[in-house]
Amino acid sequence: MTSSILVTGGTGTLGRVVTPLLAGTGNDVRVLSRHGRDPKDGVEYVTADLLKGEGIESAVDGAEIVLHLAGAAKGDDRATRNLVRAASRAGVRHLVCISVIGADLMPLGYFRAKLGAEGAVEDSGLPWTTLRAAQFHDLVLYVTRALAKLPVVLAPGGVRLQPVDARDVAERLVELTLGDPAGRVADLAGPKLYGLAELSRGYLQARVGRPTRRPTLPFRVPGKVGRAYRAEDNLVLDGADLGRRTWEDFLAERVAGAERVRGR
Ligand SMILES: NC(=O)c1ccc[n+]([C@@H]2O[C@H](COP(=O)([O-])OP(=O)(O)OC[C@H]3O[C@@H](n4cnc5c(N)ncnc54)[C@H](OP(=O)(O)O)[C@@H]3O)[C@@H](O)[C@H]2O)c1
Repeated sequence: MTSSILVTGGTGTLGRVVTPLLAGTGNDVRVLSRHGRDPKDGVEYVTADLLKGEGIESAVDGAEIVLHLAGAAKGDDRATRNLVRAASRAGVRHLVCISVIGADLMPLGYFRAKLGAEGAVEDSGLPWTTLRAAQFHDLVLYVTRALAKLPVVLAPGGVRLQPVDARDVAERLVELTLGDPAGRVADLAGPKLYGLAELSRGYLQARVGRPTRRPTLPFRVPGKVGRAYRAEDNLVLDGADLGRRTWEDFLAERVAGAERVRGR
């Protein structure tokens, strides 16, 4: 039996991976984002702004399942409340939501908004599933590329990450979207833990083809954010599902060759 699935944020980093996988299951897939585009590969694209509350009703109309991936640095709680309202009116039978590991613990606005979004889904009265994931390799690449402009390798003491590949998250989300509503499922992190300096050194090595000779600059992240990272509130060390692809696998595909340069 085919279902009609609405993917919010289906044009983003994660959405671009999930959408073709879902379309490949033979279900009807519609993507919601602020920038519409022509239908492609059997996928319909509709324009709506979840934060402003514009165009949501018609985007949700007829959807049986909603996979909610749309997100931004700010306002995911409000955006999700707007989506949930429309989804309830449309009689959606399964609402699936992506969130972030540490949503309930990290003292940062983005995490607080994700916790608010989780709450909106839980309180919606709709059957729901929420998956918390670690930071995607793509985000770590963005950060390590920016840090590579410095002549040193920054090493914030006690800050570790367990980045996960967006493809591993996408595959899990397809299972969850096509399965029965399951509530909060096990978090999904990457297969290995790294310090930030290790992630940066990996990036520089992939880019240059040998270990970097840049000196390490240790420092302490101040305040409550620093304390939360040192307490590893951004990690789930027990009980998480682990993705298959490592940071090194990702770098081999995305950086080595493509970005290889001569330098330090
Ligand atoms: N990146 C990570 O490391 C990470 C880790 C854990 C969880 N997550 C969560 O995973 C989700 C996807 O992340 P991502 O990295 O793929 O994000 P992304 O690349 O920034 O993509 C965001 C998507 O949301 C859409 N969007 C943004 N604001 C919108 C609005 N007001 N109304 C409608 N659509 C809107 C964007 O399209 P338009 O710009 O065209 O509207 C785009 O399709 C987010 O919810 C994020 O919080 C991300």
